[in-house]
Amino acid sequence: MKTKTPVTAEDRLGKILTAYPYSGAETLIPILQEVQELEGYLSREAVMAIARHLKLSTSKVYGVASFYNQFRFQPQGRWHIQVCRGTACHVRGSALLLGRLERELKIKAGQTTRDGLFSLEVVACIGACGLAPVINIGGEYHAHLRADDLPALLESYRQRGGPENG
Ligand code: FES
Repeated sequence: MKTKTPVTAEDRLGKILTAYPYSGAETLIPILQEVQELEGYLSREAVMAIARHLKLSTSKVYGVASFYNQFRFQPQGRWHIQVCRGTACHVRGSALLLGRLERELKIKAGQTTRDGLFSLEVVACIGACGLAPVINIGGEYHAHLRADDLPALLESYRQRGGPENG
């Protein structure tokens, strides 16, 4: 009987890189986007492989990726939180929500809590402006939020379980 060899992260990365045969910085963003879409984040190994492939320094790749807040360097948490930074949410206090979330979770946008339970991301308008300010947790929208609502809201997700229950 034939056994299937598992496809590793390296295989998947190699496949993406071979689709971009030319070295140079101009293909960096599309490669970063594809790798993140596939793996959910940019691992250290992936950044190093991309740098080698494009003949760029690792710090150059990190520098470019860090400039765009669409890229993350840690896997997403069990509960991924998106804070909308669109205009409607901004004028209704989304910066206060972000600040409170960062303090409650002790992470910055783009990071994941040590226990793997929560990750935080700032996103452009998520298409629910009538609910502003709005955040999305694991695909669920929370509307007209105030910063003081956040501790109880986070606790309700903690009660729903960690990564092993997901
Ligand atoms: S601005 Fe936040 S949902 Fe549109």
